[in-house]
Amino acid sequence: MRRVVVTGLGAITPLGVGIQRTWSRLLASECGIVSTSSLEPSTRWRELPSQVAGLVPLGSHEEGKWQASDWLKRGDERRMAKFTQYAIAATEMAFRDAGWRPQTQEEREMTGGYKKVSPLFVPQLLINLGAGHISMKYGLQGPNHAVTTACTTGAHSIGDASRFIAFGDADVMVAGGSESCIHPLAVAGFSRSRSLVTTYNTHPELSSRPFDRDRGGFVIAEGAGVVILEELEHAKARGAEIYAEIRGYGCSGDAHHITAPREDGHGALLAMKRALKNAGTRPKEVDYINAHATSTPLGDAAENAAIVTLMLGEEGVQKADEIAISSTKGAVGHLLGAAGAIEAIFSILAVKENTMPPTLNLHNKDSNFNCNYVPLESQRKDINVSMSNSFGFGGTNASLVFSKYR
Ligand SMILES: *[C@@H]1O[C@H](CO)[C@@H](O)[C@H](O)[C@H]1NC(C)=O
Ligand SMILES: *[C@@H]1O[C@H](CO)[C@@H](O)[C@H](O)[C@H]1NC(C)=O
Repeated sequence: MRRVVVTGLGAITPLGVGIQRTWSRLLASECGIVSTSSLEPSTRWRELPSQVAGLVPLGSHEEGKWQASDWLKRGDERRMAKFTQYAIAATEMAFRDAGWRPQTQEEREMTGGYKKVSPLFVPQLLINLGAGHISMKYGLQGPNHAVTTACTTGAHSIGDASRFIAFGDADVMVAGGSESCIHPLAVAGFSRSRSLVTTYNTHPELSSRPFDRDRGGFVIAEGAGVVILEELEHAKARGAEIYAEIRGYGCSGDAHHITAPREDGHGALLAMKRALKNAGTRPKEVDYINAHATSTPLGDAAENAAIVTLMLGEEGVQKADEIAISSTKGAVGHLLGAAGAIEAIFSILAVKENTMPPTLNLHNKDSNFNCNYVPLESQRKDINVSMSNSFGFGGTNASLVFSKYR
C-alpha cells in the first residue's frame, strides 16, 4: 500500500482565517463563540432558544478575518454559496502552504477533487458544488468526489481521499469539509431535536463545555478545513515539508438510532479499533485523542466510555489518567460538516508541534470521567500518534490516525 502524508493545511474557523491564526488562538485558550442576538433579522434570532454560535469573524485577511473579496472575484462571490467560498479560500491556503499546485496536464489528471458537506437544506442540489468549483479553478482532473455523512463528512473526506492515494487513483488529493449553517432555520431545526445548548445565551464563551458537568448541548458553528494529502514519494521528490503521515482510517455504523448514540459508545469503539488496526498501531501507542465530544450530556459520556474501553483494554495503557483527550469544540463549537476536517487538522498539528490543544470550560468533570482532558490550558507532550474521532446523525462514525513521519 502506498504511504500518504499531509503537506498543506488551510482553515477558516470562528477563531479566525488561516491556520496560524486559528491554532495560536486555540492554544491561547481563546474562544470564538459569540451571541447571535444582534444578527438580522433580530426578531427571528431572538425568538430561538439557543442564541450562541461559532461565527467566522468578519474583516480583512491581515487581521485574520473573513472578507470574500480577499479570495474571490466579484462575480464568483455572487455566484457561489458561502460554504463554497470558504472551501475555495481554505483550498487556496492549503495549496500555498504545500508550495505546490498542478502544472502539467498529467499532474492535473493525477490530482484529486475536493469533498465538502452540503448546506442543511438543499443537499441534492448543492452537495458537490464546492468540489466542482475547486476542480475547475485548479484544473484538477482526478477523483472529484463529495461525501455527505452529516457531522462525519470532514473525516470521511480525508479518510476516503487517503485511500484514493493509497490505491493509486491519485498522487495528490485536496480533501476537507466546509460548512455555512448559521441561519435561524438551522438553529430552529437543531433546537427542535434538542441538540443545542440553551442555558448560556448571555455568556456565549461559556456555552460549549465538553466533558464538563454543566454541559447542555452543542454550539452550532461555521467554517472550513482543507488538507493537501500526498503520496509519500511524490512529496519527497519535491522536498515538501511533511506535517504528519495518515496511518489509519476506520468507519462504523451504530445500527441503533438516528440521532442518539449507544450508551456504551459501541459504534465509536468499533471505528477507533478499525482505524488502529488499519494503522498497525496498539492503543497504548496513541498519545493524544481529539474527541468528537460536542458538549452534549449523552454523546460525551458515550464517547468517553468507548475511549476508556479501548485504551484500558488489551495492549492499552495502565491507568485512565494516562489517556489524553481534548475536545476543541469548547473553543470553536461544532462545525458540523467541517468538524471532522478542522479537528483532523488540530490532530495533525498536535503531532507536528507536540502540543495538545485545551478543552475550554472544563471546570468540573463528570464524576466518572477519569482521563486527562487537557482542561482549560494546552499541554506539551511528545506526540507520535494522534487520533481524531467524528460521529454523525444517521449513526455514522469515523476515526483517523496520524503519526509523525520518520
Ligand atoms: C456514532 O454515530 C452516532 C450517530 O448518530 C452518534 O450519535 C454516536 O455518538 C456515535 N457512536 C458512539 C459515540 O457510540
Ligand atoms: C510512531 O507510531 C508509528 C505508528 O504506530 C509506529 O510505527 C512508530 O514505531 C512509532 N514511533 C515511535 C518512535 O514510537
